[in-house]
Amino acid sequence: MAERPYIVGNWKMHGTRAMLAEARAIDRAAERLIKVEVALAPPFTLIHATRKEATLIGVGAQDCHPADGGAHTGDVSAAMLKDAGAGFVILGHSERRADHGEKDADVRAKADSAIAAGLNVIACVGETEEQRDAGKAESVVAKQLKGSLPEGEGVAAKVTVAYEPVWAIGTGRTPTVEDVGAMHCSIRKVLNEFYGEEAGATIRILYGGSVKPDNAAELLAADEVGGALVGGASLTADSFLGIVVAAA
Ligand code: G3P
Repeated sequence: MAERPYIVGNWKMHGTRAMLAEARAIDRAAERLIKVEVALAPPFTLIHATRKEATLIGVGAQDCHPADGGAHTGDVSAAMLKDAGAGFVILGHSERRADHGEKDADVRAKADSAIAAGLNVIACVGETEEQRDAGKAESVVAKQLKGSLPEGEGVAAKVTVAYEPVWAIGTGRTPTVEDVGAMHCSIRKVLNEFYGEEAGATIRILYGGSVKPDNAAELLAADEVGGALVGGASLTADSFLGIVVAAA
């Protein structure tokens, strides 16, 4: 059976307890939008409260430390996220790669730790505008995938990939539907080589980068698009549900 479209809201560094009202509204709506898998990734500080308030949708985190625990001031382990109620973690987001110098090997180490702790992983990849203009987008993304994806038997079922062209994040710009489809087909080819055809084919590939209610339907209809990773438009229930409805 084909997997349901997966629409995930990444709240990034936005969110005080007032945002829980948005999570509650999204959760209530999800009850009738069963054709779509819906999830939110609030900041660390809201994971436990969001899990308590929103019982139908998925709740996850935006990062984790690769170690199981220890003297890492300010960091959060995958086991702690699981304990707080998270079911997945977004890893390798371009903002973390840029702000924290995260490399592919860091993403893989975090993914291994997350899966060991019982979390699913959304692994983010995407090229910069310079790389796209130089015709290197597909090779850059393929290299990121081969360096970041967790390896091993049976892990494919725990993995979702999010393709987020860096130049489309927060800018209001998106690739053409044809370019999104071409990149997603290229990612599918890498996944099939990396995990084997059968396992590779099961992995949903989300598109992220300026997804809004008015462009979601066409982006979600592109080849090999299995859902969306949404930033700004996930911060209100109205706009986020506009995207969920477009996916239904
Ligand atoms: O992780 C999703 C995010 O990077 C996309 O942000 O605001 O362009 O939807 P936005």
